[in-house]
Amino acid sequence: MHTTLSCGKCGFEHAIDQLQNLCTQCAKPLLVGYDLEALKGRFTPDVVRSRTIRSMWRFWDVLPTDSPDNAVSLGEGLTPLLKCHRRGPMEPFENLYVKDESFNPTGSFKARGMSAAVTRAVALGVKKVALPSAGNAAGAATFYSAAAGLECYLFMPEDTPPANIIESEVGGAHVFLVNGLISDCGKLVGKGKERFGWFDLSTLKEPFRIEGKKTMGYELAFDMADAAGRTELQLPDVIFYPTGGGTGLIGMWKAFDEMERLGWIGSDRPRMVVVQAENCSPIVKAFQDGAEHADMFPNASTVAAGLRVPAAVGDFLMMKVLRESGGTAITVSDAELLEGVRECSRHQGIYFCPEAGAVWKAAQKLADSGWLKASERIVLFNTGSGLKYNHLFPPGQLPVLDHHDDACLDRVK
Ligand SMILES: Cc1ncc(COP(=O)(O)O)c(C=O)c1O
Repeated sequence: MHTTLSCGKCGFEHAIDQLQNLCTQCAKPLLVGYDLEALKGRFTPDVVRSRTIRSMWRFWDVLPTDSPDNAVSLGEGLTPLLKCHRRGPMEPFENLYVKDESFNPTGSFKARGMSAAVTRAVALGVKKVALPSAGNAAGAATFYSAAAGLECYLFMPEDTPPANIIESEVGGAHVFLVNGLISDCGKLVGKGKERFGWFDLSTLKEPFRIEGKKTMGYELAFDMADAAGRTELQLPDVIFYPTGGGTGLIGMWKAFDEMERLGWIGSDRPRMVVVQAENCSPIVKAFQDGAEHADMFPNASTVAAGLRVPAAVGDFLMMKVLRESGGTAITVSDAELLEGVRECSRHQGIYFCPEAGAVWKAAQKLADSGWLKASERIVLFNTGSGLKYNHLFPPGQLPVLDHHDDACLDRVK
């Protein structure tokens, strides 16, 4: 259970037993703190390994609850770390892994954040939530709200992937399509929340989604130890993350810091790589310019819906992660990221979401430039299921065989 809620920018402390959104002093994201000194020795890797909880809530000591029994859980987390086959363009890489988040409920890593945020919202008496979404967060919010008996109001760009719109409607959310970007949807939530009595679940404006997503960082340390056949936790050399709002990136960095303070790992950190789409890359631009904050990216567009975030309230936190980790930020075009989805499907047997197709291609680019070494332990995040994006790959003209015709198999090439 957390003990502090302080601003990530100015450090101002906020009450932990009340609903909070952004910092009341400077309107930046709040970060959750724990009494890690008190947990040291009681909450250990062995304790975690011995638990029978089959979800991210096996890390409940550093999540917003005093008991895993109170969690709103659908079995999120504990996703597999898959070792890549040495085929295709990444063939030279001996230690390339995919953390496959498509195994989560509702098919994306958004489940982790929503499980934590809805758990805390319920504990503080919330009845109605609202959020803007690029797609996957909407699906996750719908189903966690349904599990908790909350009313859920969703605002999505009108060209959000159909699968996300459908799952949200099926799951009983109030779905509104908006003729704009996710930032425009966010403004509508901000305007409507007083009037309709919603709690704003927007990523990073709500402090606990990041807590759920940080469990990817905790799990990775266990996964990498298992992959090496060791008991001591370890982190990879490089992590590639498809970045929109950056919640997962910031969350994992927070997890590494907490694990060090718990005495679980040392001070070595992976180089963190932010991957964005060429036509929506505010963080890459700010990184290249050496800026602390990112400007709103004009005319943002990409088929990778989760990467279509033209402005992120946690921009300065991402810059800190990139600087401290010695990482980098890189763009990929839409044509490249779609090719990445096909390559991964065909060479690895994993149906990547287009956001992860971008990561796959970014790794190739950094390998070609020499930034990435073939001997390094590299983790790519597949943040969601390719099945949500079937609309991007309409089937071609397929032959229909007449099974009455004995010669029909002559058409098989
Ligand atoms: C599949 C997928 N990948 C990546 C992202 C970006 O995530 P983050 O906001 O943590 O940067 C999203 C966000 O919608 C997403 O749906």
